[in-house]
Amino acid sequence: MPKPVVELVDVVKVYGSGDVKTYGLRGVTLTIYEGEFAAIMGPSGSGKTTLLNMMGLLDRPTSGKVVIAGIEASRLRSSQLARLRNRFIGFVFQQFNLIPRLTVQENIELPLVARGVPRRIRARKAREALIAAAGDPSWLPKKPSQLSGGQQQRVAIARAIVGEPRLLLADEPTGNLDRKSAAIVMKTFMSLNERGQTIVVVTHDPEVANCAHRIILIRDGRIIGEQEPDRSKCITRIL
Ligand SMILES: Nc1ncnc2c1ncn2[C@@H]1O[C@H](COP(=O)(O)OP(=O)(O)OP(=O)(O)O)[C@@H](O)[C@H]1O
Ligand SMILES: [Mg+2]
Repeated sequence: MPKPVVELVDVVKVYGSGDVKTYGLRGVTLTIYEGEFAAIMGPSGSGKTTLLNMMGLLDRPTSGKVVIAGIEASRLRSSQLARLRNRFIGFVFQQFNLIPRLTVQENIELPLVARGVPRRIRARKAREALIAAAGDPSWLPKKPSQLSGGQQQRVAIARAIVGEPRLLLADEPTGNLDRKSAAIVMKTFMSLNERGQTIVVVTHDPEVANCAHRIILIRDGRIIGEQEPDRSKCITRIL
């Protein structure tokens, strides 16, 4: 039996209050299991980022339950939530979010710094993570600005996996990339998933979603169904 990594039970997220309420999510129930590679697809404003933020404990639901690795997040204080997030979840964003004045190695080490991991172990793990995400450790001493967008995104993936998270979450990770770089980034996710990493990718690109094993469709804050991916239409076929 596959184990659930994250469970959402009737999660509602309302932004604002009074007359200016906006629904981010209108009641989402969803389980992601260990080893899965899921894509979440839907139009702009449908609630994809809100859903990812709920799974990643970046924000609290208005109502409903979020359970990560068997722990119910709503019962935790903010400091406990932050620790759970640091230990269990890795994030990749559309804008890479690397820190420009730090080297690639220092960027990748950041989640380990927050955990108090000693310098030598951090350096070894950063190297291993970059090899897993990019195959090329020669980038370690470089600054992010010396790399292409596609290369920077693979550094961001290395940073997201360096702490061996249970769950890797990516919000439009190919949104700022040309097609070839997008294909390379998706190939990276696929190879991490083949080695057991649980991954959820938000996208509105069907060629990206088709690289996953499961496509979850969201519209107007609700899950409206799932779709069988067609791997022959995954963007990596152009490589
Ligand atoms: N911080 C916020 N304050 C108020 N409303 C918000 C906030 N964040 C999201 N929303 C609203 O919640 C709804 C869902 O937004 P969300 O960002 O989750 O959509 P999305 O599917 O990620 O869209 P996109 O594809 O454009 O990134 C939208 O109506 C949006 O305007
Ligand atoms: Mg979004």
